[in-house]
Amino acid sequence: MKRLQGRVALVTGGLRGIGGATVDRLLDEGAVVIIADLKPASDEVVQATLQRLGQASSYVQLNVTSEADWQSAAETVRRDFGRLDILVGNAGIDGVGSVDTMPYETWKRVMAVNIDGLFLGTKYFAPLMTETGAKTRGGASIINISSIMGMVGWVDASPYNASKGAARLFTKATALEFARKGIPIRVNSVHPGFIRTPLLQEGMDRAAEDPSVGATAQDMLATLDQGTPIGRIGEASEIAAGIAFLASDDASFMTGSELVIDGGWTAQ
Ligand SMILES: NC(=O)c1ccc[n+]([C@@H]2O[C@H](COP(=O)([O-])OP(=O)(O)OC[C@H]3O[C@@H](n4cnc5c(N)ncnc54)[C@H](O)[C@@H]3O)[C@@H](O)[C@H]2O)c1
Repeated sequence: MKRLQGRVALVTGGLRGIGGATVDRLLDEGAVVIIADLKPASDEVVQATLQRLGQASSYVQLNVTSEADWQSAAETVRRDFGRLDILVGNAGIDGVGSVDTMPYETWKRVMAVNIDGLFLGTKYFAPLMTETGAKTRGGASIINISSIMGMVGWVDASPYNASKGAARLFTKATALEFARKGIPIRVNSVHPGFIRTPLLQEGMDRAAEDPSVGATAQDMLATLDQGTPIGRIGEASEIAAGIAFLASDDASFMTGSELVIDGGWTAQ
């Protein structure tokens, strides 16, 4: 039997990048997977994705910053699936620039997506996941995608650093809260290093437009390859593999932990 057979998962930001690779991996491991992302369900990208992934996949339009969207997603999942074993809080955005010139709006937007989104998802899915978690050996599993930038600082990335650091400790706080109260939900964070995704590429493309940077996006990606001890940036599937492990009963004794998958970056 596959490791996640019979389990139901929801992945925020599941249409591309790390979220997309996670959807693929959880499906491969036998789960039913609900993709939650910004596009309307009728969008052609959504339709093509569902067609490619087949019957075990479905879609819910959800902006992680919207309390109403989370409430309605929790009702839909309860009605249509009757359980939720795995919640992957993956949707995230970056926000770069120096503190003194950064618009307050940028700070608030990054915080809203990267940390409010985790709070709201945990809050509205905890009741269903508590019921579901009691049915399996390892319990239900929330996996919050932080970053190595939730562990160490980076120049000109203060809102991103702050939001990812908050994700790391929100994970530990909720892990303890659930464990100490006997609630069968494990909560762990994943800390990717630099991973080849549209987010990273778009960030490099934007930076390259600034003449003071004096480097192309390709140059900057090569610098990240060289800066990573293993000699290359990571692939989204390598993060998805860690997420699938935390989602499974193989990680039944793990809660409040941080899984760093960074090619050695933070070991330096
Ligand atoms: N790529 C990296 O190098 C890297 C490194 C460390 C951590 N991360 C984290 O991994 C996660 C995924 O990053 P990625 O590189 O795959 O990004 P990506 O931009 O390629 O994909 C992000 C997905 O999230 C969705 N999304 C954005 N805002 C949303 C919102 N408000 N509500 C719902 N969905 C929303 C997007 O539509 C998109 O499908 C993020 O939390 C990111 O911070 C990425």
